[in-house]
Amino acid sequence: MNILKTVFRAGMVITLAVTLFSFGCSVDGASLFQKEGCINCHRFKGAGGSICPDLTDVAGKRSDAWLRQQIKDPGLNFPDSTMPEFGHLSEKEIQALVDYLKS
Ligand code: HEC
Repeated sequence: MNILKTVFRAGMVITLAVTLFSFGCSVDGASLFQKEGCINCHRFKGAGGSICPDLTDVAGKRSDAWLRQQIKDPGLNFPDSTMPEFGHLSEKEIQALVDYLKS
């Protein structure tokens, strides 16, 4: 019986560790959109700058892959782009931004 208890406890510890780990690593697209300055140029759902395209409906027109590429290297989609590259962001952060644009 003791062995069962030990196994159960170990399972609980692992579950807790995994939960805390994924919580700590989760990235929030909405705050990245502000922190990285997207909002200074782009309007999204009524808030933000208006010097660049409004992104409210962009996820309906573009694929996830296209959006990820646009954030990483805008020059590939728009050769004379004035949008900065955000290649310093991790894949996870870029995906969080794309998910935010789809929200
Ligand atoms: C300095 C201003 C500026 C900043 C900051 C900026 N962008 Fe842009 N973005 C632009 C401009 C200008 C365009 C229009 C196409 C071009 O010239 O690159 C654009 C285009 C886009 C498009 C494509 C819109 C379409 O026509 O389909 C997406 C998506 C986008 N930006 C997302 C972002 C995200 C996400 C961020 C933040 C990580 C960001 N942008 C930061 C200026 C900016």
